[in-house]
Amino acid sequence: MQDILRQLEIKRAAARAGGGDKRIEAQHAKGKLTARERLEFLLDRGSFEEYDMFVEHRCQDFGMPEQRIPGDGVVTGWGTINGRLVFVFSQDFTVFGGSLSEAHAEKICKIMDQAMKSGAPVIGLNDSGGARIQEGVTSLGGYAEVFQRNVMASGVVPQISVIMGPCAGGAVYSPAMTDFICMVKDSSYMYVTGPDVVKTVTQEEVTHEELGGASSHSRRSGVADLAFENDVEALARIRDLFDFLPLSNREKPPRRPTDDPVDRVEMSLDTLVPSDPKKPYDIRELAIKVVDDGEFFEIQPDFAGNIVIGFGRIDGTTVGLVANQPMVLAGSLDIDSSRKGARFVRFCDCFNIPILTFVDVPGFLPGTAQEYGALIKHGAKLLYAYAEATVPKVTVITRKAYGGAYDVMASKHLRGDVNFAWPAAEIAVMGSKGAVEIIFRSELDNPERIEALTDEYQQTFANPFVAGQRGYIDDVILPHNTRLRVARALTMLKNKQLENPWKKHGNIPL
Ligand code: HXC
Repeated sequence: MQDILRQLEIKRAAARAGGGDKRIEAQHAKGKLTARERLEFLLDRGSFEEYDMFVEHRCQDFGMPEQRIPGDGVVTGWGTINGRLVFVFSQDFTVFGGSLSEAHAEKICKIMDQAMKSGAPVIGLNDSGGARIQEGVTSLGGYAEVFQRNVMASGVVPQISVIMGPCAGGAVYSPAMTDFICMVKDSSYMYVTGPDVVKTVTQEEVTHEELGGASSHSRRSGVADLAFENDVEALARIRDLFDFLPLSNREKPPRRPTDDPVDRVEMSLDTLVPSDPKKPYDIRELAIKVVDDGEFFEIQPDFAGNIVIGFGRIDGTTVGLVANQPMVLAGSLDIDSSRKGARFVRFCDCFNIPILTFVDVPGFLPGTAQEYGALIKHGAKLLYAYAEATVPKVTVITRKAYGGAYDVMASKHLRGDVNFAWPAAEIAVMGSKGAVEIIFRSELDNPERIEALTDEYQQTFANPFVAGQRGYIDDVILPHNTRLRVARALTMLKNKQLENPWKKHGNIPL
């Protein structure tokens, strides 16, 4: 017995030692924590329960039988974040570069399967050289097993990927199918083909960082939802993000009681919208002033700034906020903002999170770049996402709601439950000047007449009452009361029930 216990301790010590002191030092020298240190920061103290510490690879080639490290390059198990269950895997770069063997993949699959059965999210900390080169096709099979589970888990339990080192080749497709991808600046990169292959094929010279670093993916490609300065910041913020999310699609969003009064009046909102309709203002200010304690957790803050998305709480319960941002491209909808908004709306709908939409949209962005880039299909994604969503939908039009974009942005016609407008709202097919120039084209040489007609169009449509008469707007509210009115609407919608017709799945325009 003593002997078994001693062997157990030796095995445990070997697993904990990972690739050994030298490789751990190298990991630290790159500013990175080890796989186990990362889990300590991510999970509640002492909550981690490890699975499969003794799993080893089964590779017989290239001298691999002599190189076995218990755990095989990934630490897996479950624990809690602020007391709520979560499943985790953390790749250990100090063991074969965190590369994925058949056994390594099996460990990840095991926690994913258990997460599905237990109804709890999966957080993956990625730091890997990709497929275990010594294993060949069994490693590729292992990736595909993980991919399949990513797809099955999509919409059932939230999945979060944190890229904390290399993530290249086909390996990127597992994070790509998860709900959120977070990256660490300067120490992580993601790409399908690396700089060497890029140079051979396209003659472009590009560094790892330029091609697939946190900055490229959080600003240009939109692949990354968040970019953090270092491992510690990333893990702390993932804990914050986790707190907004339900554990599975079977649960309602979590509640966190607050002292922030639900009837808090924000007089400053009465002057948020400038009197000049062409002047921008920061829609984030509205988001921050409406949610509990000003805690707005923005997603993709550096990508497609013309739409703002993120989580907040109202009266203690999580809501997903989607808002046009007049400060960027006048808040118009383009390819990137439509994709960004659509994916977020679908995430909220999967996980029973009510959607609060703030609308100030002059329309879709014109131009050949947009049309050739398939704005039609991408804009349709946002429309589709809002139209299929069955969660509570509360909409506030703060200023412009023009054209097709009015319809798209959680309008009454797309089953908006409660649609408010601020007094300055203008709900029309387009701006007055553009409208008059089209319908009175023959009178364009008479500027005085055009001006009078523009005024008339403005008087007729630049208010919320035409839409109000038809019931497209449920009420015109005072900006300073927005928090209270939204909170009441969400309370009324707490037990909302709405089901879409049975189908295998819809065919969202991709
Ligand atoms: C086995 C690997 C490995 C891999 C790294 N190592 N990648 N072992 N399989 N894929 C080992 C190294 O041999 C080394 O072992 C240790 O990990 C650290 O690697 P270094 O090269 O010393 O580290 P670094 O200089 O930081 O470079 C990291 C790296 C580089 C850029 C990731 O290791 C690299 O290019 N690796 C190969 C990447 C790759 O081509 N992977 C396959 C991609 S295809 P020692 O013993 O010296 O510490 C793919 C397909 C997936 O992934 C398809 C899914 C469908």
